[in-house]
Amino acid sequence: MGSVSLRNVSKSFGSVDVIRNVSLDIEEGEFCVLIGPSGSGKSTLLRIIAGLEEVSSGEISIANRVVTEEQPKERDIAMVFQTYALYPQMTVRENMGFALKLAKMPKSEIAEKVEKTANMLELEHLLDRLPKDLSGGQRQRVSMGRAIVRNPAVFLFDEPLSNLDAKLRTQVRGEIADLHKSLGTTSIYVTHDQIEAMTLGQKIVVLKDGMIYQCGSPLQLYQEPDNTFVAGFLGSPSINLIDCVVMKDSSGLFAKLPSGDVIKLDQNLAIDDGAKVVVGIRPEHLTVEDSGHKDGLNAVINTIENTGSDMVVMCSLPSFNMTSAFKEQKSLSVGQEISLVPELSTVLVFDEKTGNRIRA
Ligand SMILES: Nc1ncnc2c1ncn2[C@@H]1O[C@H](COP(=O)(O)OP(=O)(O)OP(=O)(O)O)[C@@H](O)[C@H]1O
Ligand SMILES: [Mg+2]
Repeated sequence: MGSVSLRNVSKSFGSVDVIRNVSLDIEEGEFCVLIGPSGSGKSTLLRIIAGLEEVSSGEISIANRVVTEEQPKERDIAMVFQTYALYPQMTVRENMGFALKLAKMPKSEIAEKVEKTANMLELEHLLDRLPKDLSGGQRQRVSMGRAIVRNPAVFLFDEPLSNLDAKLRTQVRGEIADLHKSLGTTSIYVTHDQIEAMTLGQKIVVLKDGMIYQCGSPLQLYQEPDNTFVAGFLGSPSINLIDCVVMKDSSGLFAKLPSGDVIKLDQNLAIDDGAKVVVGIRPEHLTVEDSGHKDGLNAVINTIENTGSDMVVMCSLPSFNMTSAFKEQKSLSVGQEISLVPELSTVLVFDEKTGNRIRA
């Protein structure tokens, strides 16, 4: 097992900077998720850790050993890809044992390791099949099995679930979580699915334009986002981000919304009167009350989505929209006038220009 550490890692393809000065520490046994929009550099960063891509500058250590100049096979890592990358002409058994065979492990030992891993993944009845005779979920389990038999210091996953349908994705996601619990192997997992990130990650790294926008536990990123990008990227439905102007007087600190409504802010926030800010309110921190509520914002319901367990209500206010989400069932109708009441202790404030969070 091993920790992974990146120091000032940069990567350019020609004149294009794809990874910019990334430093990151992943502890031994930790499950770390890299998340970000398409093109943000997730796969490149993972391939750099694997040794499939050279860095332009910076240093990579695995298990406290600098591996920057080492070949992939010297790094004690195993990678699981989105496309499974199984050898089509080999059976499940041969696919799983192939790396061990290359490493010249004795046949009996390979057989034992493959059997044991197949049992763990419930693949024992499929060992003599070819990949083409497996379902997508089974193929991905074989691809994980192939990584597990090697007992590497680090597992690297690049969107391993994205070719599976929604139900299977949830199932295999659970299996990956269970495997990590039982094996305890350091894992780095790339996804652009925030549910995967929030449920699997002990540490989540949010990447954009090859830079780390924030790194922390799922709850930290959700409750204490450092910037509007992280606030908007995590959470479903998305956080409401509203351009506001700060008003400061002897009675306290307020944000003036585009509708003319004002909401109270934490008076200890380090901002001046007249500052342009973005106020962030998560949908689950806005309750829907009868119109005219004294602490509420007057709004009209545009759309109602009811999944049975959750209600999501999209509302329009003069010149902007807001979404509220809640668990209880309420009798509401489109066109109805209501009050949206923010839970003031959860209101986030960001600098309009930089997008950075303003704190007390
Ligand atoms: N070999 C290459 N040559 C030139 N540019 C590349 C190369 N590989 C990747 N890139 C560029 O680097 C950027 C990051 O790509 P990368 O594949 O790491 O993104 P990603 O975050 O994994 O995206 P996705 O979510 O779509 O998989 C992209 O703009 C991509 O076009
Ligand atoms: Mg990718």
